[in-house]
Amino acid sequence: MHIGIAEQDLSQVSSFLNQVLADETILFTKTRKAHWNVSGPNFMELHKFFQSQYEALDATIDEVAERIRSLGQLAPGSLNEFLHYSTLKETKTTAATAQELIHALLEDHESLIRELRVGIVAVNDTYHDVGTGDFLTGILEQHEKMAWMLRAYLQ
Ligand SMILES: [Fe+2]
Repeated sequence: MHIGIAEQDLSQVSSFLNQVLADETILFTKTRKAHWNVSGPNFMELHKFFQSQYEALDATIDEVAERIRSLGQLAPGSLNEFLHYSTLKETKTTAATAQELIHALLEDHESLIRELRVGIVAVNDTYHDVGTGDFLTGILEQHEKMAWMLRAYLQ
């Protein structure tokens, strides 16, 4: 592979993409859990809202995995690998109010936004992979929009 990025830099970028893929997968799963378990007077609204968010995350997951393949690396795909690479934590509890579910998801989006912001600088400046930097910037903006929508539900 000869695309103007050193082999070791490609491998560093792919490691970061593995982490992003794992975190997107954890957040997808947690959003789906909220879709299933939310209850209360706004049930149907939130049930559909969480579905729109996990569907967007599902599309992002596919794009990140295919970006890893575009860099010549293999994409992780098992739950064990995702748990190994992720920085987000799984939730053990099922019973939670709608506000608690939204708050927990918002915290994860904000954590991912911070992680991407730092990672993008390294991808661009240290590893000189402007393609991945641009790609991840688009994902960061998506999370900022999703975080805004979650925040808008909080009282
Ligand atoms: Fe459903």
